[in-house]
Amino acid sequence: MLKDTSVLLDERRIFKPNYELVEEAHVKNWEAELEKGKDLEKYWAEKSEQFEWFKPWDKVLDESNKPFYKWFVNGKINLAYNAVDRWISTDKRNQVAILYVNERGEEKKLTYFELYREVNKMANALKNLGIKKGETVSMYLPMCPELLISMLACNKIGAMHSVVYSGLSVGAFVERMNDAKAKVLITADGTYRRGKIINLKNIVDEAVLQCPTIETIVVVNHTGSDIEVSDLSGREIFYDRLIEGESDECEAEEMDAEDPLFILYTSGSTGKPKGVLHTTAGYMVGVATTLKYVFDIHDGDLWWCTADIGWITGHSYVIYAPLLLGTTTLVYEGAPDFPDPGAWWNIVEKYGVTKFYTAPTAIRHLMRFGEKYPQIYNLSSLKVLGSVGEPINPEAWMWFYKNIGKEKTPIMDTWWQTETGMHLISPLPVANLKPGSATLPLPGIDADVVDEKGNSVPLGKGGYLVIKKPWPAMFRTLYEDEERFVNVYWKEFPQGFYRAGDMARKDEDGYYWIQGRSDDVLKIAGHRVGTSEVESSFVSHSAVAEAAVIGKSDPIKGQVIKAFLILREGYELNTSLIEDLKKHVRYELGPVAVLGEIEQVDKLPKTRSGKIMRRILRAQEEGEELGDTSTLEE
Ligand code: PRX
Repeated sequence: MLKDTSVLLDERRIFKPNYELVEEAHVKNWEAELEKGKDLEKYWAEKSEQFEWFKPWDKVLDESNKPFYKWFVNGKINLAYNAVDRWISTDKRNQVAILYVNERGEEKKLTYFELYREVNKMANALKNLGIKKGETVSMYLPMCPELLISMLACNKIGAMHSVVYSGLSVGAFVERMNDAKAKVLITADGTYRRGKIINLKNIVDEAVLQCPTIETIVVVNHTGSDIEVSDLSGREIFYDRLIEGESDECEAEEMDAEDPLFILYTSGSTGKPKGVLHTTAGYMVGVATTLKYVFDIHDGDLWWCTADIGWITGHSYVIYAPLLLGTTTLVYEGAPDFPDPGAWWNIVEKYGVTKFYTAPTAIRHLMRFGEKYPQIYNLSSLKVLGSVGEPINPEAWMWFYKNIGKEKTPIMDTWWQTETGMHLISPLPVANLKPGSATLPLPGIDADVVDEKGNSVPLGKGGYLVIKKPWPAMFRTLYEDEERFVNVYWKEFPQGFYRAGDMARKDEDGYYWIQGRSDDVLKIAGHRVGTSEVESSFVSHSAVAEAAVIGKSDPIKGQVIKAFLILREGYELNTSLIEDLKKHVRYELGPVAVLGEIEQVDKLPKTRSGKIMRRILRAQEEGEELGDTSTLEE
């Protein structure tokens, strides 16, 4: 990771805004907007006015019980009402809300009115299954309309959702499912990927044997596979059957601003996955405002965020923010390079996508196929591009800028996290851009780069990225684990700053250059993968006694896994064992856990208290100095 950084620091190119865009932009003067954002409470109070509230809030921010901040105190609101119902009485009623497209070239359009009816039917069906306000519904679904409908249906009746990414497999699924303790699981028969149908139902069938709380499993017959009603067990029901006959009217539950909205699991460096908990009103204000300003959303836009809904980018920017703004969101199911590496650019041309948001790993992947594919298509509808998930290297930035944006569309490099819920550091289309820098904290956000004591470091010097003041879409806790919430994020700096877990540096203009994680979290193709989760999946294999994993740089994925294993007596690391281990980890965690290399070792570097020092393994691997080894066992 750090190797990349030296390249970044030499980056001196500056790209000025496209003046045609600036003329129509919501924000025409970046500096003035940043200045306005300094009065944080006033700024966010103003932004809350875009919604219909059942009851207005009394106070913008309550800081009386830090770090348990509260936003829009005593306000009453409903997300689904604002994302869907609100538009039915406007001229957006028959506008497409969700444009679903898949790699087979099939499409499905749902207008706001159609979405309204579908959400209501599902909301009523969930109530009939006994789901009450405050309860959790789990989902393990591909990118399909029913996923968005089910999430909105939960919001409508005040239930929380816990979406598990459909690329995670049995072990990861079971852990997340049992932590959230949902009674109802919504899943599908399968998903389309690179010309094949991946069977999801098989994974679910196996996993739910270990999930005692699940009483009902709703199955979307998405790929039209030949599962029959008679194939379903007593607790399973097809989605279509479930909503059959349900009323298409359902009153929106009046939610307190601070009522829980959803749980989304993310990986840490130690222990089980963290159930990041977001609440209602602050999240709505944060995601809608950032999408509107960062991507300059107007009526008539066609928005496409390529992230899977199973990750925070999908939650915030495939479904919630665009619908809260009344825009059309394109939902794509499939691979970026199927049937050929021009697949995405074909969609941009065919539908006239205006704003396009993706990840550096996808850009690097598509770069490999050269300029030929983007040249086949007319990409002139594009106005703003975006990047998220990991630092974007200047080469990928330039390729994206030249070949997709044709040197006229700015790239919004947005830094944020599952925990932050919304973009925190990002340019606006009026900004001067530097390839590889996320530029400045957004208006209304107070960030900094500090040393161990929490003091600002001088410009040009690296340090820890912190957020100094609360922001509306911040997570409120870790599900049923307040102690971990406080210890992991809020204890490190005595000033009470939020510790992001990233290293960063500000340049002479104050621009932020994110340098990667300061902890042992891996970033594989932009996905956060916990070292401890990978290690425990190795150790659950009968051949492995102990395991340590680190991230190894990879030109496309950013990082892949390098594993150091101590094998049990009688085992030897030969080709067949390597294959078996790869299969095993994939079975446990899914395709997100991309294994690069496996090495057999006799010993692992540990502290005297027995903690694996992955830092030492990393340094050895990259041929760097070992650094401080005073705590090393021997
Ligand atoms: O290391 C940072 C990296 O992704 C981490 C957050 O991962 P996750 O919670 O999965 O959310 C990803 C999507 C919001 C951060 O701690 N990261 C995210 N965006 C950027 C980034 N690193 C550099 N530049 C970015 N734009």
